[in-house]
Amino acid sequence: MGEPPTGIRKGLTNYGDAEFSLFLRKAFIKGAGYSDDALDRPVIGIINTGSGFNPCHGNMPALLEAVKRGVMLAGGLPVDFPTISIHESFSQPTSMFLRNLMSMDTEEMIRAQPMDAVVLIGGCDKTVPAQLMGAASAGVPAISLVTGSMLTGGYQGERVGACTDCRAFWGKFRGGEISKPEIDDVNSRLVGSVGTCSVMGTASTMACLTEAMGIAMPGSASAPAVTADRVRIAEATGTQAVALAAAETKMDTILTQESFENGLRVLLAIGGSTNAIIHLTAVAGRLGIRLSLEQQDRMSMETPVLLDLKPSGKYYMEDFHRAGGVPAVLRELGSLIHRDVPTVTGRTLGEEIDDAGPGFPQDIIRTLSNPVYPEGSLAVLRGNLAPGGAIIKQAAVSPSLLEHTGPAVVFENTADLAARIDDPDLEVTADSVLVLKNIGPVGAPGMPEAGYLPIPKKLASQGVRDMVRISDGRMSGTAAGAVVLHVTPESAVGGPLRLVQTGDTITLGVSRRLIQLEVSDAELAQREEAMGPAAPVVPERGYRKLFVTEVTQADEGCDFRFLQGSFVSDL
Ligand code: FES
Repeated sequence: MGEPPTGIRKGLTNYGDAEFSLFLRKAFIKGAGYSDDALDRPVIGIINTGSGFNPCHGNMPALLEAVKRGVMLAGGLPVDFPTISIHESFSQPTSMFLRNLMSMDTEEMIRAQPMDAVVLIGGCDKTVPAQLMGAASAGVPAISLVTGSMLTGGYQGERVGACTDCRAFWGKFRGGEISKPEIDDVNSRLVGSVGTCSVMGTASTMACLTEAMGIAMPGSASAPAVTADRVRIAEATGTQAVALAAAETKMDTILTQESFENGLRVLLAIGGSTNAIIHLTAVAGRLGIRLSLEQQDRMSMETPVLLDLKPSGKYYMEDFHRAGGVPAVLRELGSLIHRDVPTVTGRTLGEEIDDAGPGFPQDIIRTLSNPVYPEGSLAVLRGNLAPGGAIIKQAAVSPSLLEHTGPAVVFENTADLAARIDDPDLEVTADSVLVLKNIGPVGAPGMPEAGYLPIPKKLASQGVRDMVRISDGRMSGTAAGAVVLHVTPESAVGGPLRLVQTGDTITLGVSRRLIQLEVSDAELAQREEAMGPAAPVVPERGYRKLFVTEVTQADEGCDFRFLQGSFVSDL
């Protein structure tokens, strides 16, 4: 037995004659003008997720060129190839429905094509998790490169950015504070360039987590998409991919239990997106590591929010980059971070933190002794309404609603919501608790970001800007409010959420980690009997059928059961 094949000799098409397969492969690729010298180099695959439907990846050509330059500087042969690309606003029914499909595409194309390492270029919310999931399963050395955040825009002297400010302006429009011509004008000014959302939404959160977990270059998460820093990071990523190929460093070497713990720690400290919990759980699941909600909540109680970024704070990603980015957050977290974990650079995270140097005066990344919020941004809720858990971004809740009891106003699904939320006759007050059913992983399907229910127009026009809202769906990482999400198990598979009726009393107690339906067990049992067993609608064919049949609940990362690894450890 010789050494396993590398480069262009890897994974030959099987005709029963390996030498002929290689002969044929080289004949075809030479048609594109490659020399034997080039074809003898280590092959670095580069995933090109450029798409006319994905402006968050609009800088892909510049990044590809820079990554290729970096690969060639280190003596490798760069070869880019496409996979599915997903943009939040161009994905029907919802981007989450497509995340697992993209992860399968990523996994199989990495495995099918000959490459010694792969650069995963993603950015928009679901793309980075899909790539990490796929590459983790493919077992080829991989390094992540994000496209970077968009520049902020400006409106009437005010700095604005997508998409926290999109929601704020839309709320004002719904409340009659601004006119139709004004909202149309704002529409052209919210996004200053291509790139991912300019706040700490899901894309920015996942960018920070990949860096904190050591799977992307140090200092790489925060550089905006259209800056020289972003292009230099791309070049360095290409160069490092060649070193990863030589060392044969696979993802499971870097993404250990301690790395995931670092990822969770940073998620809590940056006021990150609730969606990231689902994504991290899914990536860890591919490597056989189970992330428990209890552990996340324990960590939340001891991890203050240090970053003053929208949606929970006031600054934008470009400010975060100037303030030092992820290395500065890691430095401030001090002993809360595992330092002795490997990274894609071949050095430990601790060595990279030390290398980033000391801090300097700024007010965007706070210290542990002067945090933005005393606990982690996210809290895990339990109670008879969510026996499998629910999530709330406590740092972004109006303080008066952190402890709240009120009567439920129930919507059976998104169509019911659209039909009635602005009905002037809807019996609702600012104290009501808005409940939306059937937007979970199976129910919608795909768990859309519809958990951020709009404030009923008649209340919005009275100045109401936040209410307690509860659903089994998700919320955009750029949104804020008293929004209880990921209620598990979801209503479509028989979770208690389906038993809630308009007029029931619901208690939210964030400090007690409580989400409780104040209805007796006997009454709930009666309702359950009257409704009969849950019968989720299973589509007749295709990916939709696969999705509904195989998707797991939020606490398992909404991955497909058959894609998860064998669980060997718990965090
Ligand atoms: Fe792509 Fe926000 S829509 S990152």
